[in-house]
Formats: sequence, C-alpha cells, structure tokens
Amino acid sequence: MKPAYALLVIPLLLLFSCQTNPEQLTLPRLIPQPASLSPETGFFVLRDKIGMATAEPFAVSGTFLRDFLEASPALQVGQGDDLVLQQDTTLPEEGYRLEVRPDQIILSAATDRGAFWGIQTLRQLLPAAFENGQYDGRLLAIPCVRIADSPRFPYRGMHLDVGRHFFPIGFIKKYIDALAMLKMNTFHWHLTEDQGWRIEIKKYPRLQEIAAYRPETLVGHYNDQPQQFDGKRYGGYYTQDEVREVVAYAAARFVTIIPEIEMPGHAQAAIAAYPELGCTGKDISVATKWGVFEDIYCTQDATFDFLEDVLDEVLELFPSEYIHIGGDEAPKTRWETCPNCQRRIREEGLADEHELQSYFITRMEKYLNSKDRQIIGWDEILEGGLAPNATVMSWRGINGAIEAAKQGHKVVMTPTSHCYFDYYQSENPDEPLAIGGYLPLEKVYAFDPIPSELSESEAAYVLGAQGNIWTEYLPTPEAVEYMAFPRILAMSEVAWSAPAQKDYPAFVKGVEDFHPRLDTLQINYANHLYEVEGELLSSEQGTAFALQTLTTNKSIRYTTDGQDPGSASPIYEAPIPITQSLVLKAAVFKDDLQLGQVFSRNINYHKAFGKKISLDKQPSPAYPGSGPEGLINGMNGSDTRYGDKEWLGFSGEDFEVTLDLGGPTAVQSVQTRFFEGNGQWIYLPAEVSFAGYTDDNQPSTNFSSAAPVRATDHTFSVTHETGGQEWRYIRIRVKNYGTIPPGKQGAGNKAWTFIDEIIVN
Ligand code: ACM
Ligand code: ZN
Repeated sequence: MKPAYALLVIPLLLLFSCQTNPEQLTLPRLIPQPASLSPETGFFVLRDKIGMATAEPFAVSGTFLRDFLEASPALQVGQGDDLVLQQDTTLPEEGYRLEVRPDQIILSAATDRGAFWGIQTLRQLLPAAFENGQYDGRLLAIPCVRIADSPRFPYRGMHLDVGRHFFPIGFIKKYIDALAMLKMNTFHWHLTEDQGWRIEIKKYPRLQEIAAYRPETLVGHYNDQPQQFDGKRYGGYYTQDEVREVVAYAAARFVTIIPEIEMPGHAQAAIAAYPELGCTGKDISVATKWGVFEDIYCTQDATFDFLEDVLDEVLELFPSEYIHIGGDEAPKTRWETCPNCQRRIREEGLADEHELQSYFITRMEKYLNSKDRQIIGWDEILEGGLAPNATVMSWRGINGAIEAAKQGHKVVMTPTSHCYFDYYQSENPDEPLAIGGYLPLEKVYAFDPIPSELSESEAAYVLGAQGNIWTEYLPTPEAVEYMAFPRILAMSEVAWSAPAQKDYPAFVKGVEDFHPRLDTLQINYANHLYEVEGELLSSEQGTAFALQTLTTNKSIRYTTDGQDPGSASPIYEAPIPITQSLVLKAAVFKDDLQLGQVFSRNINYHKAFGKKISLDKQPSPAYPGSGPEGLINGMNGSDTRYGDKEWLGFSGEDFEVTLDLGGPTAVQSVQTRFFEGNGQWIYLPAEVSFAGYTDDNQPSTNFSSAAPVRATDHTFSVTHETGGQEWRYIRIRVKNYGTIPPGKQGAGNKAWTFIDEIIVN
C-alpha cells in the first residue's frame, strides 16, 4: 500500500514543482553603485535548499553570509557549490567580483573584507524578506549579472554623538549593521561631551557617578526664548563589557570603531566630576543645554595624567589605529586668566593660547604615538600648528582639509554643508525640530570629497568622507534613524562609487527600491521622494515656473488659485508662464492618490522679477542658493532653513549686487532680506546701503544705508524708500558682520551673511 502510494505521489510532486514558475526578480539599482556591472542573460533559480562553499580565508564573511541565509527557516543551507566564496589575490584589498550564473553564484575576493562587501551586494539582489528571516522557500529567479567592484576611498564613515543623547547598545549595533550593509567601514563614536561622559573608566569612578548624568535638559530649540528645562535627571554610560561587545560586533562586520575622547574643549562633564581638571577648580554642573562652554581642561600636568589614564583604558578596548581627540570649539577664555596655563605658555616659549592648544594636542599625540596609535582631530587642531602626525577631520567647510593636505597630512571630509545630517532635509514645515540648516538628499549625493583646490598628489591625502549625526535634537533611536536615512545611502555612494558611476535620478530609483528593505529592517527613514521641486526659468520669451519630482511613473497636479491640488487639478506638462503675482501649489500623484506633501510658492511679480542681476563676488559654493537670479525670482527663502534654494550664503565677505531693470523704471522702494542664526554663525550684516541711477556710466557713490527690521524669528528685512525715482540700475552694498565675538558659538570665526529676495516696487 505505502510504496504504491509513494510511487504515485512523487511524479505528481515533480510535475507540480516543474509547473511552478519561479518569481522573476529584477536587478535593482544597487547602493552604492558598483564600479562595473553587466547584466547577463538567464537566471539563477534559488530553491529552498542551497549548497555553500567558503574558501578558508573567508571566515568572517562566510559566517555572516551563512547566518544571513539561515535566518530564514524555510531555506536549508548545506555544503555544495551553488554559492561559492573563492579567493582571487589579484583583486584589490576591499574589492570583489560577483558573478550570478544560471548554475552558480561565485563571489571572488582577495580578502575576507572584500568578500564581505561582495556579500552586501548579493544581499541587495535578494528580496527584502531575507533581511528578517521571512523568505518562505518559494522559487526565486535571480537575474544573471557580473559585477566587479572596489571602493573609491579607504575611509567611509558615519559618526554618532551619544553625549547629547544616550542610545542603548542594541541601537548602536543596529547602526553598525546599517553601515556594514552600505559598505561603510568606520564608525566614529563620539563618547564624551559637555552634557555627558558615556564610557566607563574604572580608574575614575566619578565619571560614572557624576559626569554621565545631567540634572535636566533644555526643552525646545536653543534659540527659543526664554529657555526652558525639563527638570529631569538624564544620562547613562556604556560599561567596558558593553563596549567590548560592540567592538567585537563591529569587527565581525569589518567596521572599525574610532572612539572620540574630546579635549581640551567639550569637557564640562568631566570637569564637573573632577573640578581640579579645570582652570578655576570651582564646582560646575554637567551642561544642561547645547552650545560651546568655556570650562575646558587646564593645561597643568595633572590634566595630562588624567587623560593618559583615560586613554590607557580606551586603548585596551578599541584596537583602532586612530583615536579621535576632538580639538574643536575650545574657547580660550579660561586659559587667558589661568596662572597655570600662562606659566605653561611662558615655560614652553609659546606665542599665545592657540599655540597652547597645539601644545596640548601635540603632547597627547606623542603619548598615543608611543602606544602605536595615531590621532585624528577636528580642523581646529590646525590652529597654532598641526601635531606632526595628525589626521584632520575637516568640518568647518573644506579649508581645513586643503591646508592639511597641502602640509602633507591625511584628511577626512565632513564639511557641515554636505555632511551634517542633523540639519533639516526637507523644507516641509512639519519636519521634526532640528538644529537648523538645510541639507537635502541631493546635496549630500552631489558631494565630491576631493576639493578642486588640491593637486593630484595632494588629493591622495583625502582618505574619504563621513556623515555626522549630532544629537542635541535627536532624543531617540527613531529620531536618529530619521535623520540618517536616506542621507546615509547618498553618503555611502559618495565614499564608495567613482564619480563617473554617479547618477542622481538612478540613485533616487535605488532609494525607492531600498524602501522595502528599510521597512523590513524596521528603520525609521524619512521619505521626501514624492515632493515637488520648482524652479523659475527666465528667457527672452519671458518667465515661467518649471516643476519636477524625483521618481518616475507619477504625475504632478497643480493649481494657481491658492487651493490645494486634487485628483481633478490639471496635470503639469510644461513650465507655467508667470505674468502676475500668484500662489502656485502642486503635489505628486500616482493615479488619483496624492503621495507627498503639497508644494506651495507665493510668487511676487515685482519690478526686478526675472530682470538682470550681477554680483561682484559669488556666494560660497556650499550655499549657492539658485545663483544671483534666485535673488529676483519672486520667491522668499524659507523663514527657518537658510540652506534652501533661495538663500545665498557668504562667508566673511562684503559684496555688492547690481540690478539692471532694462530701462528707466519708476522705483518707490527696494527691499531685501537677511537671515540670522547666531548658533549657526549667521549674523546680520554690519551695514546695508543702496544707490540707484539711470545711466550706466554715472558713478554710484551716493549710497544710503538702511537698518534691518525683524520680520520673523530668523529673518530681517532692510528697506530703502526712494521717495519716487526713475532708475535703471540699483546697487546694494552688503558689509559682513566680521568676526564672531567671544562667548558666542563659533567665536573667532568669520560670520556668515545670508541674503535672499530683492523686491523692487
Ligand atoms: C563639530 O561639529 N563641533 C565638530
Ligand atoms: Zn589652566
């Protein structure tokens, strides 16, 4: 009975499985885009069993891949040659070759590390269900492909500040997992801050008892007045056992952790625990609000003894070659009046407090070099002379990188303009509260870590790039994820892919393809892909407004009457001519369903609208807005986001704007706008003055100045009333604020000026 039954059933089963069509997968747009990819004909069919063979050197990557596949109970992973990890020592150190053939998947690499990055590519060829072990055993047809890949830069990093807010190690591991998935190999763990010391140091128990906790925390934005506090004790720290666990976890993913122990500034929490480390010796509290604080480490020997003891314990925990010693934002106020620090300046023959900072950093470098480690520090470590072997992390723009590379020092690029993921990523007013700024996905993606000022040999000092996540306004893991994703996807491609491989529309498609994977990984990513972007186009024929959206197979519907667009509103087909003031609203639709937020622009059709404009100096490349024409495009910049397409930013420079109205024009008033955000180093100009005239040759010395008047929390308008004039040309002179004064954030640096719409009535 039984054998007969089996004989009957087996052919039926075979017949059935032959008839089941495999689910045919498409090749996704990979992130980061590989160096070379050629689709081949045919498919590799994955069944509920797979045989794997791993060459001996690939212990870490082989284990990772097996664990990844075995997470789905529906897949049986055994020995065999369906999936082969083989060594090819001719490939680059971090490179790999991945071949999906009809009969086999072959991953070749010179090193375990290279194989690991290849596995991250293979992951993206599989459905998202593998990410959480939900692959159900169905037949999958994976398209054949041949990929040869290796990174552009050896340093591909993400930073996380755990001082302002503290995150559990479960989240730190999830963050490291995300880095590894994107082939990023460095996690910069910012462990000490004014607002909290987060790493256990056994020799100094008060770091755990006192420095790890603050009595309360600022509520709302730093600029809100009056400042308010929550009255709740806040803090925590990682035990050394936890740190060891995280370091091992990262090593199993080829992620190096660079710990940061800040000095001489951002040390208020440590000084609160041990007041003798400061210059005054007075009791202070762990900081309860954000910013830059004057109580920094004193330069007496006892401080160096303390820091060397701390570093001894840190070095035991972190095998990284690099140790980050901070170095940023250290006001010299205390040192200027401290007898110990002044004696140090005299005895060491130093010129001033900047050279004292250089002495501090160089002394710590010597100590770390003696332990076979290298220092890395924020670009302020250039001031007063760079320590001989230091690597510079350039954050205040790219000048620090240029200077360091020209001096023959290695650099990592993290300029605020393109790498600060604590900045807003959308102009949408509903975004969660952030520190300020505006850094959309496209701007991150456009970043080129090699400054054009460097020669080819100097450019070799650029190790790579890093995204930074400061957490003043990010109290939870979900908030960190929202700021990190999807910008981390762009950063991974900035650091990995060759410029010739980069293509923003294709990348955006990749981000859309990535959404299901992020959903499966339960990552709280921001989605601004379905927003509308607009641009004013001026030509001889007149002025028109162009709309676009990032993803394909969608339509944009718009209105010009102030109503929100709906499924019956006209579909955008060509730029909309602008011949009068109007409110333009638009949204992205898939069939009748609105996907993103409504885009809305008030277009003010004034007398300079779409006319000719020139500047005697160009805005900073980091904040170009829409160029000079953006100043007369009828649109105001955001009241809160100075990094948008309207605001033009100038660092420390005076500049002059010239408008040509095309012919004599009756002018009653000329008005412009400036942004103020002192926390972000943006100050109102020292002076704004206006002149007008009809004849090109007439000298324009007759300037009259006008004072700024507050318009919104962050913006001021400046208006010149002409009393009725016939003008063709208008000049506006803007004098920069100068140097940021002591006690303010960024003290001693050049102030920024941000200007937007110039309205002529
Ligand atoms: C920094 O953002 N203070 C390095
Ligand atoms: Zn001192």
